[in-house]
Amino acid sequence: MPGLADTEVWEEYAPFFNLEEGTVFEHDLLEMEFYSRLRELFPGPCLEIGAGGGRLARSLSRGGFTAALEPSRAMLESWSSGDSRLACRVRALGQAMPFSEGVFGFACFPYNGLQCILDRGERRAVFTEAFRVLAPGGRLVFEVSPAFRRRPAEARSRRYRAETPGGLLILDEEVLRPEGGETVIYDMRYTMVPPEGEPDVRRVVLELAAFPVMEAVEDCSGGGFRTEALWGDYHRVPFDPDGSPRLLVMAVKE
Ligand SMILES: C[S@@+](CC[C@H](N)C(=O)[O-])C[C@H]1O[C@@H](n2cnc3c(N)ncnc32)[C@H](O)[C@@H]1O
Repeated sequence: MPGLADTEVWEEYAPFFNLEEGTVFEHDLLEMEFYSRLRELFPGPCLEIGAGGGRLARSLSRGGFTAALEPSRAMLESWSSGDSRLACRVRALGQAMPFSEGVFGFACFPYNGLQCILDRGERRAVFTEAFRVLAPGGRLVFEVSPAFRRRPAEARSRRYRAETPGGLLILDEEVLRPEGGETVIYDMRYTMVPPEGEPDVRRVVLELAAFPVMEAVEDCSGGGFRTEALWGDYHRVPFDPDGSPRLLVMAVKE
C-alpha cells in the first residue's frame, strides 16, 4: 500500500522547489492565467491534487472554495499566510483522497505532479479517485511532460547561481536514465551560501516517471473519464507530439 513515506523526497526538495518557482526563475504567468481561466469556466468547489507550496492557490481560488491536497508536510507548511486563507489544505495522497463522492466540480493535477508517481497502477488509482470525488459533469485537468522521456543522461554540471533572500543558492545537477528508460533521475546538489556563516550543502535525488504521455490519457479514460481536449501549451493550442513542450489534458466525468 502506498503511504506518505513514498513522497519523502518532497520533504527535502520543497524549500528548493519553492525558491526555484518565482525567485530563481520567474513565475509562469501564462500557467497562472490558464488555471484562472479554467476556474472562470468551472466555478464551484475545486480540488488541486499535489498542491505543493500554494503557487497556484490564487488562480484556483477565483471560482470559489478550493481543497489543496498535498502529501508533503514541508510543502504544506511553506504556504504564505495570505495563500493559506485561499484554500483548505489537506495532507493526503492522490491515490487515497479523504473526500466523499461527487463533491467537486473541478479538479486538477498540475505541473507534472502525476509523474511524481512511479508506479502505473498508482497513477491509475489517482484517476479512479479523481473520478469518484468529482460530481457528474465535473472536469479534471492535468499536465504531463513529454520532455522527461526524451531527456538524455548528463554528467554533473552547474545549473545556476542565484541570489535568494537566504543567500546565494547554487545548483549542481546530474541526470541519470536507469536501464529501461521508464524513469529519469535528477541528482541535485544544492549549496546555500548565507551572507554570514558556513555554506550548507544538501543532496536531493528526485526520480520521475518518464512514460509516453499518451499513456496518461489512456489511464484517465480507463478511470471512466471522457477526454475533451489535449492542449500543447497554456495558450490552449492543440497538442503536437513532436513539438509541444507539455501535454495538458481536460477530461469530463459524464
Ligand atoms: C511539481 S510539484 C507541483 C506543486 C504545485 N502544484 C505547483 O504547481 O507548484 C508536484 C507536487 O505533487 C506532490 N505529490 C507527489 N506525489 C503525490 C501523490 N501521490 N499524490 C498527490 N500529490 C503528490 C508533491 O509533493 C509536489 O508537491
